[in-house]
Amino acid sequence: MALNCISLALLSYLILLPSLSPFSHAIDTIKPGQPLEDGKTLISAGEKFELGFFSPGKSSNRYVGIWYHNFSINTVVWVANRERPVRDHSGSLAIGYDGNLVVLDGTKSIVWSSNTSTATNNSLVQLMDDGNLVLNNSGSVAWQSFDNPTDTYMPGMKAGLDLRTHVNQKLTSWTSEDDPAPGNFSLGMDPSASTQIFVWEGTKPRWRSGRWNGQVFIGVQNMLPTYVYGFRLINIEQEQKMYFYYNEFNSSHRYVLTWDGIGRHLIWRNDTNDWYQFWAQPVTECEIYNKCGKYGSCTDGATPICSCLRGFVPASSEDWSDGNWSSGCVRRTPLGCGRGNNSEEAGGDGFWKLGGVKLPDISDWKQDAVDIEGCEERCLGNCSCTAYAYVSGIGCLIWGVDLLDIHLFSSGGNDLYLRLAGSELDKKSNKTFIIIIVPVAVILSLGCIYLLWRCKNRIKELFKQRLAGERGLMYSTRGQERLTDYSASIGKRIGDEGSDGKCPELSLWSFDSVVAATKSFSDSNFIGEGGFGPVYKGILPEGQEIAVKRLSRSSMQGLDELKNEVMLIAKLQHRNLVRLLGCCIQEEEKILIYEYMPNSSLDAFLFDPIKTGLLDWKTRHNIIEGIARGLLYLHRDSRLRVIHRDLKASNILLDEEMNPKISDFGMARIFGNDDNETNTKRVVGTFGYMSPEYAMQGLFSVKSDVYSFGVLLLEIVSGKKNSTYRHPELAMNLIASAWKLWNEDRVMEFVDPIIRDSCSRRQVSRCVNVGLLCVQDRPNDRPTMASVVIMLGSETSSHPPPRQPIFTVESGYSETDSSTVDLNIMSANASITIIDGR
Ligand SMILES: *[C@@H]1O[C@H](CO)[C@@H](O)[C@H](O)[C@H]1NC(C)=O
Ligand SMILES: *[C@@H]1O[C@H](CO)[C@@H](O)[C@H](O)[C@H]1NC(C)=O
Ligand SMILES: *[C@@H]1O[C@H](CO)[C@@H](O)[C@H](O)[C@H]1NC(C)=O
Ligand SMILES: *[C@@H]1O[C@H](CO)[C@@H](O)[C@H](O)[C@H]1NC(C)=O
Ligand SMILES: *[C@@H]1O[C@H](CO)[C@@H](O)[C@H](O)[C@H]1NC(C)=O
Ligand SMILES: *[C@@H]1O[C@H](CO)[C@@H](O)[C@H](O)[C@H]1NC(C)=O
Ligand SMILES: *[C@@H]1O[C@H](CO)[C@@H](O)[C@H](O)[C@H]1NC(C)=O
Ligand SMILES: *[C@@H]1O[C@H](CO)[C@@H](O)[C@H](O)[C@H]1NC(C)=O
Ligand SMILES: *[C@@H]1O[C@H](CO)[C@@H](O)[C@H](O)[C@H]1NC(C)=O
Ligand SMILES: *[C@@H]1O[C@H](CO)[C@@H](O)[C@H](O)[C@H]1NC(C)=O
Repeated sequence: MALNCISLALLSYLILLPSLSPFSHAIDTIKPGQPLEDGKTLISAGEKFELGFFSPGKSSNRYVGIWYHNFSINTVVWVANRERPVRDHSGSLAIGYDGNLVVLDGTKSIVWSSNTSTATNNSLVQLMDDGNLVLNNSGSVAWQSFDNPTDTYMPGMKAGLDLRTHVNQKLTSWTSEDDPAPGNFSLGMDPSASTQIFVWEGTKPRWRSGRWNGQVFIGVQNMLPTYVYGFRLINIEQEQKMYFYYNEFNSSHRYVLTWDGIGRHLIWRNDTNDWYQFWAQPVTECEIYNKCGKYGSCTDGATPICSCLRGFVPASSEDWSDGNWSSGCVRRTPLGCGRGNNSEEAGGDGFWKLGGVKLPDISDWKQDAVDIEGCEERCLGNCSCTAYAYVSGIGCLIWGVDLLDIHLFSSGGNDLYLRLAGSELDKKSNKTFIIIIVPVAVILSLGCIYLLWRCKNRIKELFKQRLAGERGLMYSTRGQERLTDYSASIGKRIGDEGSDGKCPELSLWSFDSVVAATKSFSDSNFIGEGGFGPVYKGILPEGQEIAVKRLSRSSMQGLDELKNEVMLIAKLQHRNLVRLLGCCIQEEEKILIYEYMPNSSLDAFLFDPIKTGLLDWKTRHNIIEGIARGLLYLHRDSRLRVIHRDLKASNILLDEEMNPKISDFGMARIFGNDDNETNTKRVVGTFGYMSPEYAMQGLFSVKSDVYSFGVLLLEIVSGKKNSTYRHPELAMNLIASAWKLWNEDRVMEFVDPIIRDSCSRRQVSRCVNVGLLCVQDRPNDRPTMASVVIMLGSETSSHPPPRQPIFTVESGYSETDSSTVDLNIMSANASITIIDGR
């Protein structure tokens, strides 16, 4: 019954169990003259793996395969006769006359053979405990399944690229869930030995991992060099072979290329009895190889997702505006390519630093003992060099070709130094250029409807460029001194000019266009009441839906929060954060424009007696993990450290796939790196989600967000609404009952009854455990979001036991004296702005 939350697509790997033989003692060997008939199986000595005939999915064809002996979900890791099934149950597996392992059909004709010339009639076949099937020829290995993988890479395998013979052992996907015949996709090492893993569709690259830096693949976003992956690349000089492997033998790991062309790293979890997906790529659009063409960069979630690198323009603006990115971008100003030319005066080339990217594909690379300056010099000294990067663990990378497959990560990634003509780097001329472009575009847009439509794309592109520019720093060629720090200057401009009633560069929205989009803020467009004002749905002339937050005029803190929010959200990009598209300030009006979330907010589902049934356990767990990741990004991974301060169910929006997006950054604060805890006079937040130290002493830190997250987690699991200002005892009861039931090992009673049947007890127990750790009284006892994310995804069920949350639990147990006491304590030290939690 246990349903894993993450492993959405894994069920595609459900394979029907073959009929097991009633034989009580298992054998692991086939000897000459002793064929294995359909219906009987081999079981490895340690009972880890099993081999026999099976029928995949809905198919009735019979194939010889290897699967995990006692996992509750039957998972086939290797198939022999994948192209030629046996049509009935009369097949057998035997050692043939030539000593090869063969699959025979009912007429005893060979449908598959191990086909090795080194086999003799002394052979025997043994299924090993690591899942390897070995043809043993008088003590030496004549053939083994590990050298002939199908779609699964297993611990202990050494399948890879032979650097001498150039033989590349690849995985090939199944055709479909029901058919193990070789499909359209294959996976293996880059034949040019660049230390990248590729997925190909036919012969076309579909995905690449980026290079191995000794710890991770640098093109896999958020890959951590932790033990849990155990997945690394090895390049053994003596063996002259390059392959990836698991650093310790662990039979519960596998890496599979599923029939849909996605490489998935999976781990079996004993606690849930299900596969847990550690990472899987390509999944997002930008993970698809070269999505945006040459010199294009891809940003997941952006509209449009592709933009040209700085200094480049679409090769065909027509294709580009049609969303056909394949033609990519071309250089606007030719390179000067003059070593020794002064960058400012004579137009010598320089470098533009693009941070946080998946570095472009590269095939040629020479290991050189140069440092980053040497690397830059090397690039400048070669006229065909288009970019360079310096990656620790790899060294200097130099591109002498068109730049392909660039993905802007929401966090992590490497710095790419893009070679540009000096004039492109000149900050002033460039800004003037943008400023000129904008009015020209605006004037043109008034001309005709077509142009208006195009101009919108253009403006969006400029907006995108600005966001991309925010990651960028400019360098001069000589002396490497920093000319401009864009991120700082943008922050300053927003900060300064925001109070003048302008909202620079984001303010591409006139008040009139907002009025038109929302039908003058009509009631029919009203979708809810946000933190500081009503939210309306809007529709742009060309049909795009937006959410418009109109900050209430009466709100004293409006302008400050607006400035904060605009500045923050413009800088923050993560799949679990809502995206700010623009803003508009006109006299009294302060308006923010966001992407529209069709499924509104979490509270609309969670606390609605009917809709709550739509949130099954898997979805809820996914939401919990998404929120945790978004919050981790805010706390740790974004370049600003942000504390949200008002995390609650109504601030979690849901996209069409029910992925959570944290919204409402109005109260978030920017923190310096060592400024972890701050005291504030004015306490804002929502009652019931506020940590004791924040509510009582005005102390807030990342740990107060962790507290709010804990409350939210418990709400999601229980489906019960947390307290409002009017009913504080409910909040107390929620945490109190979670603690009580978890402690008495009755945690299932805490779960929302509507989903109780569909969820795994151990998973629930782990979630509630994490939730309780988060709501502990002392901030230091609470885990960081980084630990929370790890604990939520970890295999073990033993987390540290939480301490009893005295503050909430004690006052919560006796409802009679709980309602007023806490408020008095709080108002003694801080004035409280309480925003009703709805
Ligand atoms: C799987 O096999 C191991 C022995 O290798 C055994 O300890 C375990 O209980 C088995 N699990 C199931 C679900 O049968
Ligand atoms: C075995 O090898 C022969 C020739 O070497 C080839 O014709 C045949 O198709 C191969 N059979 C299989 C099952 O790979
Ligand atoms: C194979 O077996 C036959 C007898 O069945 C024997 O004559 C022959 O020498 C054996 N070949 C090898 C290579 O062992
Ligand atoms: C091959 O078989 C022999 C004898 O049965 C055994 O001693 C040896 O360990 C086996 N080798 C392998 C690689 O399985
Ligand atoms: C594989 O390619 C064929 C032909 O291009 C196509 O019809 C089929 O849908 C593809 N299968 C998958 C799983 O993409
Ligand atoms: C298998 O992996 C899990 C986590 O991925 C780890 O806890 C366990 O110790 C590993 N087992 C072995 C035998 O390495
Ligand atoms: C899971 O179960 C397998 C077999 O029962 C065992 O070898 C392995 O150590 C277990 N792993 C964990 C993390 O408990
Ligand atoms: C995209 O543009 C390229 C080159 O201009 C063209 O060959 C291709 O057919 C276009 N693709 C689509 C889907 O329109
Ligand atoms: C300066 O650059 C120009 C081309 O832009 C080139 O012709 C000239 O040789 C360069 N001067 C030196 C000293 O390299
Ligand atoms: C310049 O780069 C190209 C492409 O990487 C390379 O083929 C060529 O040998 C380099 N030239 C020099 C002088 O290093």
